[in-house]
Amino acid sequence: MNISVIQGDIVEQSAAALVVNQFEGLQNPGGATRALDTKLGGAVRALIASGDFKGKLGETAVLYPHGEILATRVIVVGLGRSAEFTLDRARQAAGAAAAKAVGLGCRSMATMVHGAGAGGLEAKAAARAVAEGSELGAYQFNEYKSKASGKVLSNITLVEMEAAKIDDMTAGAYEGQALGECANFVRDLVNLPPNVCTPPYLAAKAEQIAAAFGLECKVLSVSEMRELGMDALLAVAHGSRETPQFIVMEYWPGETKTGDRRPVVLVGKGITFDTGGYSIKQATDMPEMKSDMAGGAAVLGAMRAAAMLNLPTPLVGLVPTCENMISGYSYRPGDIVSAMNGKTIEITNTDAEGRLILADALCYAKRYNPEAVIDMATLTGAAMTALGRGGAAAVFCDHEPLMKRILAAAEASGERAWPLPLYPDYREAMNSDVADIKNSAGDRYSGVGASAAFLKEFAEGYPWAHVDIAPMAFAVKGQAVKPYGAGATGYGVRLMATLLKSWE
Ligand code: BES
Ligand code: MN
Ligand code: ZN
Repeated sequence: MNISVIQGDIVEQSAAALVVNQFEGLQNPGGATRALDTKLGGAVRALIASGDFKGKLGETAVLYPHGEILATRVIVVGLGRSAEFTLDRARQAAGAAAAKAVGLGCRSMATMVHGAGAGGLEAKAAARAVAEGSELGAYQFNEYKSKASGKVLSNITLVEMEAAKIDDMTAGAYEGQALGECANFVRDLVNLPPNVCTPPYLAAKAEQIAAAFGLECKVLSVSEMRELGMDALLAVAHGSRETPQFIVMEYWPGETKTGDRRPVVLVGKGITFDTGGYSIKQATDMPEMKSDMAGGAAVLGAMRAAAMLNLPTPLVGLVPTCENMISGYSYRPGDIVSAMNGKTIEITNTDAEGRLILADALCYAKRYNPEAVIDMATLTGAAMTALGRGGAAAVFCDHEPLMKRILAAAEASGERAWPLPLYPDYREAMNSDVADIKNSAGDRYSGVGASAAFLKEFAEGYPWAHVDIAPMAFAVKGQAVKPYGAGATGYGVRLMATLLKSWE
């Protein structure tokens, strides 16, 4: 998509669609919407007076001019009540307008920068939100539809009257577009079927973005993993025909590699399909498990974003990736395996596989002497039960400054995250009779805390946070997280980029 910012009058733009906005509960339009209404002889006022359009957040109505303006159609998008208006709502409105434009088959769209006028938002932030929302709202995954609509929105122009705001808006739009693009890159990976998006496919994608965006990338082979003692990861991978991969990406801005600047390490769960193994899942729960690599994909997306936005902090991305399958080679409940730090794990549930591959990655992270390590994983159904699908990701962290940073980034990025505790008792439930720890508490009410308590055993020697993104990674129809739509959301990229931008 091509997004640009121009100084001018929105009513004079020629585009397949002009987008103007309207707050809920106001009878008369203001600002650019009023100017357009005047041009159209009161068409917007008539729309509102009819009661057909209330201005609710994300609501859209389409008007067709009779030659009064150059544009083919006008999309009026609701911003919700002005007293409740936020930056995130500007993003959501932009997403709704872009989705509508795609649905109508528009190739070009000229839009107001929602919130930059009466909304009272800072010009740069508003443009960032509108560009980001537009990218996310225009996203489609049609790769496997033989009769794809061919409707592609390829040009968006952000139009602003005040010349003094243009530079800030141009910078904001670039950032928003980059973040939207990186999130959409993640959504493609997560939406791809598990027979295509395999561990080697993910590794190839990592190499590809490394080459394209100037990152370092290496992928550990099975024999290297064996030498390092990553037996927990290898145990999970063993039942599958696909070769496990351990992806290592590095981003060193400026002279940071040779300096003494310590990196932040991101770790992402890369299970490309989770059957549950011998502790098999119900058939109805399984199709969604193609999204069990969403944390890993989000790490790749965050690395891409770091490079695109020239973020100031050195960054390492670790993605252990394999399948959790059933075969004569699969690991069993009862097996004991050891992780890279030598701790032994009794497998009590083969469906608690994510924490096993993360355990080895968290051990590996230590070699970077990191300033902090953050893992993102679709780790538990329990997190989703606790917070609701689309509610928020669950954050576990007993390093208070790091927790604060993550929650602040969640607030700023619009990617919601909510704190959950790391009580010591959670760890006691993981005591094994025969090994150092077991991988599942075996009690259906212990899901959320147990998984985090398990990971903590392997996150030694650095500040660490665990983000359980199971509630946020994949939206189902009717429960869509706006402006995402159904399917993969790309959750995590915007959260991490926002966090790292202000890391210092
Ligand atoms: N990938 C699943 C968690 C999940 C479930 C993500 C639903 C998204 C939607 C994970 O590997 C898993 O199976 N977790 C188990 C853990 C249990 C066996 C301790 C769970 O949540 O039931
Ligand atoms: Mn599982
Ligand atoms: Zn899983």
